[in-house]
Amino acid sequence: SIPVIIDCDTGVDDALALLFAVRHPGLDVRAVTCVAGNTDVDGVVRNTLTVLEQAGAPEIPVARGAGRPLIEPARSARHVHGEDGMGDIGLPAPRRAPVDVDAVTLLRREILASPRPVTLIPTAPLTNIALLLRSHPEVTRNIERIVFMGGAVACGNATPVAEFNIWHDPEAAAILLTAGVPLTMYGLDVFQQVVVDGTDVRRLRASADPGTRLAGELLAHRPAAPDITPDPEAGGIGDAGAVCAVVDPAGITTSLLPVEVSLAPGPTRGQTIVDRRLRHGESELHTGTSERPLVDVALDVDVARFVKLYLT
Ligand code: BDR
Ligand code: CA
Repeated sequence: SIPVIIDCDTGVDDALALLFAVRHPGLDVRAVTCVAGNTDVDGVVRNTLTVLEQAGAPEIPVARGAGRPLIEPARSARHVHGEDGMGDIGLPAPRRAPVDVDAVTLLRREILASPRPVTLIPTAPLTNIALLLRSHPEVTRNIERIVFMGGAVACGNATPVAEFNIWHDPEAAAILLTAGVPLTMYGLDVFQQVVVDGTDVRRLRASADPGTRLAGELLAHRPAAPDITPDPEAGGIGDAGAVCAVVDPAGITTSLLPVEVSLAPGPTRGQTIVDRRLRHGESELHTGTSERPLVDVALDVDVARFVKLYLT
């Protein structure tokens, strides 16, 4: 199985990602690290521990990471994810505590200790990952790839042009993009497409298994946008799609394209600028530089394939 580490800001859809990842036989989740994003980092740690307990995976080490972005203060997304960051569905408190080392230390330790190169799956602002890459650049030799949920080719969500995870810590995203590690960007363009229909959401909610039931409850808190499906009870798997992309990379269509992040103050801050001009014949643009690194950008997703994968 593929050794992975998930760096998350649990988070309704981060929870959906964890529930899927720890149960998939093709993945070996070696650690989960937490960062401020959807809610404050202590809330993220609590939510993550509880979700792993409900998923029947209480042994996976969880570490607390950055409580704020590299430069800016933390900005809450409670309006999206509820007061507790988990849709206020009444999750119990966790029974255990995080490990006694911070996220960067745990990431370094697990990456270097893994017999096979590790795939990192950040589903949150990239603060922990940036701190790791800057403080321990030697880890890159045992990183297979970083498949991150973040960015957008077309339209943003936190702002008209910026996706939340990148917008929350654009400097961290810039460090990731220029780190020289193979990258896959699972951005909003595909993220929003993958929805489970209402019939399946109801079936999951009625399950006898606590992890499956929790996934159903969470999906019910993530109604799909009306332009994606007319089904009012359909729920988006969100961050879990990035995990699907690791298990089944053929489910997304990617192009290797230059990606930059706007660090400018003002309305473009946090925008991922994906240069698709080469798709119109300007192939001389198709070269990576340290300023314009090439990223495998997910441009399309086989929705039925990922939904089937998520539900089995
Ligand atoms: C991202 O932001 C968070 O709200 C979600 O968990 C996802 O990681 C989408 O922009
Ligand atoms: Ca997230």
